[in-house]
Amino acid sequence: MSARRVYIIDANSKHWTDTVNALSALYNVAYYSDQGAALDAIAFDPPTAVVLDENVLPRGGLPLLREICCVPDLDKLPIICTATSERNSFLADAIGLGVQTTLVKPFRRSALLQALSTEINGKIERSWVRIEPIQRAALRRTTQVFNGIAELIGQGAPLPYESVRDACEPLVEAVSADRYKDMLHGIREHDNYTYVHTLRMSIFLAVFGHAIGVRGNDLLVLAAGGLLHDVGKISVPHRILNKPDRLSDAEMQTMRSHVTNTSMFLRGSPGVPRGALAIAEQHHEKLDGSGYPHGLKGKELNELARMATIVDIFGALTDRRAYKEAMEPERALHIMARLGGLLDQYLVGVFRTVLLDAAKDFP
Ligand SMILES: [Fe+2]
Ligand SMILES: [Fe+2]
Repeated sequence: MSARRVYIIDANSKHWTDTVNALSALYNVAYYSDQGAALDAIAFDPPTAVVLDENVLPRGGLPLLREICCVPDLDKLPIICTATSERNSFLADAIGLGVQTTLVKPFRRSALLQALSTEINGKIERSWVRIEPIQRAALRRTTQVFNGIAELIGQGAPLPYESVRDACEPLVEAVSADRYKDMLHGIREHDNYTYVHTLRMSIFLAVFGHAIGVRGNDLLVLAAGGLLHDVGKISVPHRILNKPDRLSDAEMQTMRSHVTNTSMFLRGSPGVPRGALAIAEQHHEKLDGSGYPHGLKGKELNELARMATIVDIFGALTDRRAYKEAMEPERALHIMARLGGLLDQYLVGVFRTVLLDAAKDFP
């Protein structure tokens, strides 16, 4: 179950049931209908976010909101306020108290998920102010570029590659100085899984590359390839991306289409280096030809892509997901060693040596 907890505070049973159903696959959800119980729970066991309705026993949502806003630390809690009408005075009062996100019922599940992600990520991104400048710059610039890519894909516009390369410069600088763990800490609770996964891929690829002597522009290509390798997942529906159970054949096909989507987007964008393209296009290929989308084998696989496949599998195993905790790096590396001829085991060995020391205090 997800470590991210969302409290839903709503005295209308039909409405809270809908909201619980909308969120329970992605968040650990608790429900309260009255002010006293909700405030106790928030104060003693603060959640990741709160969805607060106008309808709370005994006197509505506003007195509870006022109480929350008076408690130091809780005043920074991500809160989404809901009501049945846009003209509702509760929503206006909530905005007056500093609430930034309001939703009018009935709302779409996607609108609620989007609102929660924006609220949770806003809080996390503001906390990066405490991270040292170079790592903070790496996080801020890669987030901006990543969010920008989602918009470009939506508009059918090409990617200005220089913006990705420039955003990766502080990341590569931080990795080269062996100072990247605050970045890994900083994204631990971030709510955009594809961003978290691609940033971890970018950091680990740069760490891997730096350790085996890759420098300068080549190291930037590795980091950029990591950041871009899964951008086609932006078009894969949320419910498939976050499905904890085995995917059906049709769902698997949609999931796998992210490689072709990524490839089309990057090939339609001038200036993307061949190394970054190879990482994006071949990171699900396997040495024995059992991978996708082309079933490439042995020497047909680019060296950078072999590194990317290893880091991608390591990332997938050690990423935290809504439905699973992160696996220990040691165990992930052990599983990868047992994949035998599917991976370049010489490179797995090198990656293992590179990571084992660093991984002792991985977030
Ligand atoms: Fe992928
Ligand atoms: Fe990936």
